[in-house]
Amino acid sequence: MPLKPLKKAVLPVAGLGTRFLPATKTMAKEMLPIVDKPLIQYAVEEARAAGIEQFCFVTGRGKTMLVEHFDIAYELERTLAERGKEKELAALRADAPAPGSIMSVRQQVPMGLGHAIWCARAFIADDPFAILLPDDLMQCDVSCTAQLADAYRETGGNVVAIEEVPRERVNRYGVLDVAEDRGRLVSVKGLVEKPPIEKAPSNLTIIGRYVLMPEVIGHLARMEKGAGGEVQLTDGMAKLIGTQPFHGLRYEGRRFDCGDKAGFLEAQVAYALARPDLAPAMRDILKRYG
Ligand code: G1P
Repeated sequence: MPLKPLKKAVLPVAGLGTRFLPATKTMAKEMLPIVDKPLIQYAVEEARAAGIEQFCFVTGRGKTMLVEHFDIAYELERTLAERGKEKELAALRADAPAPGSIMSVRQQVPMGLGHAIWCARAFIADDPFAILLPDDLMQCDVSCTAQLADAYRETGGNVVAIEEVPRERVNRYGVLDVAEDRGRLVSVKGLVEKPPIEKAPSNLTIIGRYVLMPEVIGHLARMEKGAGGEVQLTDGMAKLIGTQPFHGLRYEGRRFDCGDKAGFLEAQVAYALARPDLAPAMRDILKRYG
């Protein structure tokens, strides 16, 4: 049977963002900007660059603004047009996803990432889908989700983006039990969520980018609690191993953990340095604080 095309992405965005209080008291953490663009928009743009056409935001209370961010702001557009700000207007219009391409579901209860993905089950239906965790900001020449989409077409199954971390940090991530390490692609015989350091099967960890087959939903539906008492996506994915291809992909690029203050600040610097209009000023600033 030919592979189904990858057209759908789920973006879990129900988290409270307590690490960024008070900034996140009334604002969704995914609206925090890196330079001048909110995290959610980086994720949507990355997915669009991979050919994704339909988006499902898994939201919760106070997160409506994330969906509204992708609306057309008519008053703003009219004002920009009246003031002759053609460049800004064109940029806003280019950002707008196709009408009807964004939907949202509510998670209501914070039962974990696996539960959040299960909440999108009607959207996923019988199709393969990408997951993007907007806290993980990916600076890649080729969209990280596009790299995963290529690997999906190559392997015909589940693929997660992975990176090596120092041993003492493995307990913060989903960790791979490696069947065969072929360099770019790693076949997987097991997955463990946030293992104690001494029990971790490797130091290859999952980052917030996935392409999964819809069968994972059936496993998540059992609502079995894992690490931290939450329904873990990693546990649902582990159940697919042996029944479907499952690989880790060493993606090309850099990841910034923007759910963490230091990672968020580093991303500001890296993204400013990557912008020709800001790089000289940012270099001056860094010199002053060096
Ligand atoms: C989640 C996943 C974990 C993964 C991580 C990547 O953890 O559960 O497997 O390694 O994202 O960022 P969280 O950061 O939500 O605790």
